[in-house]
Amino acid sequence: NIIPPSKGELACSDEGVGRLKEPDEIFDYVNDYIQSSKEYKGIRFLVTAGPTREYIDPVRYITNRSSGKMGLSLANVIKRKGGTVSLVTGSIDCKDIHYDRIFNVETADEMLNLLKKEVKESDILIMAAAVADFKPKEISERKIKKGKSFLLELVENPDILKELSKEKDESQVFVGFAAESDDLIENAKKKIGEKNLDMIVLNDISRSDIGFDSNYNEVTLIYKNGRMKRVPKATKEKIAEEIISKAVEIYKSING
Ligand code: PMT
Repeated sequence: NIIPPSKGELACSDEGVGRLKEPDEIFDYVNDYIQSSKEYKGIRFLVTAGPTREYIDPVRYITNRSSGKMGLSLANVIKRKGGTVSLVTGSIDCKDIHYDRIFNVETADEMLNLLKKEVKESDILIMAAAVADFKPKEISERKIKKGKSFLLELVENPDILKELSKEKDESQVFVGFAAESDDLIENAKKKIGEKNLDMIVLNDISRSDIGFDSNYNEVTLIYKNGRMKRVPKATKEKIAEEIISKAVEIYKSING
């Protein structure tokens, strides 16, 4: 049994997979191993992580600051506790990461097409990916030459969760994230209804110590009946444990 390395700052100012886990994370792994905790055995999770890229021309794209750490932490916890994980990543470096199934995509359209197939084989979907809301209306086939300014017209990307929820089975649980900086609770609650979610994980992205590209997060879990649970600041693995435990509770309450 091997504890996988974490992603982050390495020696010589490098970034990537290769960091020793934090002592409390190592403790959790060993503890789970000793207790042979396989509490999520038989549950099929589909997790998304990282940003999408929306191409302007063959070499330029629009993206965002998501590092994929939140999604990877979710996948790690599921694996550690015996669940099956299909991980769909946007543009993050995950060549050294091993899950049951792993798919790399770039654009929101690619992510949607892949998830449409994968979701049929899943019990719990957790969308931690930061999907670009907009994409260029047209992608130039050739590199755009410098020399004069131009206007870039953007059109809306498909809303992946909205599309997937059209075919959602009653036995499935869908969990979304809400990346908010204003009217946090009100906006997150709106997304539960619009995207037909069982639970949303609200994170305040105006804070630089949590959320995007941080090893920490602090979230409020909001259920579709309006009930809320605050999860104080902790490593993303600890936050992931709480999210998954609540998602599984919902799954078990629906499926007996
Ligand atoms: O990757 P890290 O650096 O670890 O950072 C983690 C995170 C901040 C990216 C993560 O915790 C997070 O908040 N992810 C969701 C980001 C986001 O796109 O939030 P949103 O409020 O714009 O979207 C709401 C939900 O709809 C999300 O689950 C999103 O995946 C989904 N979505 C968004 C747009 C779109 N076109 N289709 C979607 O399905």
